[in-house]
Amino acid sequence: HRHLLGIEGLSPIDIEALLDMADEAVDVSRQVEKKKATLRGRTQINLFFEPSTRTQSSFEIAGKRLGADVMNMSVASSSVKKGETLIDTAATLNAMRPDIIIVRHHAAGAVHLLARKVDCSVVNAGDGAHEHPTQALLDALTIRRNRGRIQGLLVAICGDILHSRVARSNIILLQALGARVRVIGPSTLMPAGIERFGVEVFRDMRKGLEGVDIVMMLRLQRERMNGSFVPSVKEYFRYYGLDAEKLSAAKPDALVMHPGPMNRGVEISSEVADGAQSLIREQVEMGVAVRMAVLEALARNLPNG
Ligand code: CP
Repeated sequence: HRHLLGIEGLSPIDIEALLDMADEAVDVSRQVEKKKATLRGRTQINLFFEPSTRTQSSFEIAGKRLGADVMNMSVASSSVKKGETLIDTAATLNAMRPDIIIVRHHAAGAVHLLARKVDCSVVNAGDGAHEHPTQALLDALTIRRNRGRIQGLLVAICGDILHSRVARSNIILLQALGARVRVIGPSTLMPAGIERFGVEVFRDMRKGLEGVDIVMMLRLQRERMNGSFVPSVKEYFRYYGLDAEKLSAAKPDALVMHPGPMNRGVEISSEVADGAQSLIREQVEMGVAVRMAVLEALARNLPNG
């Protein structure tokens, strides 16, 4: 593959190969000397049109650990603010001869469009409510390292499914590797026709959590909601916030995940987020490793790679 635009289009073999490479990247990242030379002499541009803490910083660290020259494009102070279009911005950056561009954009499909306009490799770091492939890969890596496998696990993805690119990428990946997936949330935050993805749908969180191995919480994305549909925080937490009492419906050794950023007291209690069953910090560490693996895989397909 020249680009990574989504989990859709990756085979189970592609996914397992990336996870194997990411396991090796975890070992590299835990050494005192963390540098490899895979991307030495290569230029990586991080182009984020939406805010990010985890994804942007981990792509920067991943690129630097592989020896790339990494440039973080500051969109807020760029000519995008003067009305330059996505395509013109892409053409401008392309003329500087980067090898890899990492893109986050608020519009679904924008990253695919950009990939058609540039000569280099493109990685989707989140496009609207469409896909966030490296998030799903880092979630899978975290699960595999803790459970030894994905096959046969029962995973519940809970909350604001409607606005979530993380949910979409995870549903595709987890099912490709043989997990069963449930989605839990209020009807107003459930995409129409979600059943077509082969998931079981629950409105009641306690019923949905019964017997699950992995509880994956999602952020309530209030910034993407039309004002009239924003639920009250108190009511949302009561029905869909993961606290110790609701978590007790899952398997006793169920593991809790959240892609971040978390809204404590909205979709998850601090007790659970910081509790013994939480993998949230480990997900962040796996984020760097997965992004190193993706960059290394793309490097093989760069000219002279
Ligand atoms: N999980 C995730 O994508 O976090 P950021 O928005 O902070 O990158």
